Amino acid sequence: MPDAARLRPLDPPHKGLRNALGVLSLQAGRTEFSDPVAVADLQATAAGVWALLRDHARLEDEFIFARLERAVPGASAPAAEQHPELDATVDELEEMLAGFDGTQSNDEGHRFVLALVDFQARYLAHLVLEETVIEPLLLEHVTDEEFAADQQAVLEGADPATLMLWFRYIVPARRPADTRPIMANFVANAPPPAVEAVRSMLAEVLDEPTFRAVFAED
Ligand SMILES: [Fe+2]
Ligand SMILES: [Fe+2]
Repeated sequence: MPDAARLRPLDPPHKGLRNALGVLSLQAGRTEFSDPVAVADLQATAAGVWALLRDHARLEDEFIFARLERAVPGASAPAAEQHPELDATVDELEEMLAGFDGTQSNDEGHRFVLALVDFQARYLAHLVLEETVIEPLLLEHVTDEEFAADQQAVLEGADPATLMLWFRYIVPARRPADTRPIMANFVANAPPPAVEAVRSMLAEVLDEPTFRAVFAED
């Protein structure tokens, strides 16, 4: 029997972000850039992804890396040093896409698609660096109780719209058994309308057996 799994603080956000970036680049690649409705739809998806990327950088700085820095000063630097350049690219992508209104050619749209997948490639490598270099140090120096306390503080401090976005991309990207306790906690503590909103959003992005497994209804 394997040892009880440690909590991996980067596992939920990173799986969610990989899912979100995949969804966004897939949608960008099939967008007709001369169609205002399709472009607005792409802008709406992208707005959620930029929000999650920014929220994740903040959570790493305020919670995840902060824990490690208290134990081993400087240990998070290899990843933290990449943040300003990645943040700047998010700003550039946002600005480029905001300049589109559905009257562009697909060649112009292709510039955005290329810039997006170039960012995606760099960001995926950043996530791997964090999970191979930083997370092992975190597991060495931070206890599961401290991770759980941070997770609780993040859940309680999150605004409902951002929490909804995280659920949208994280839940389909993880094993249902990993999500189940988090969802049970959310269902027990969140206001019923918020729970209902998350349930109906997840019903759109999960197949039925997964939905039932996540909400312990199987
Ligand atoms: Fe990061
Ligand atoms: Fe990260």
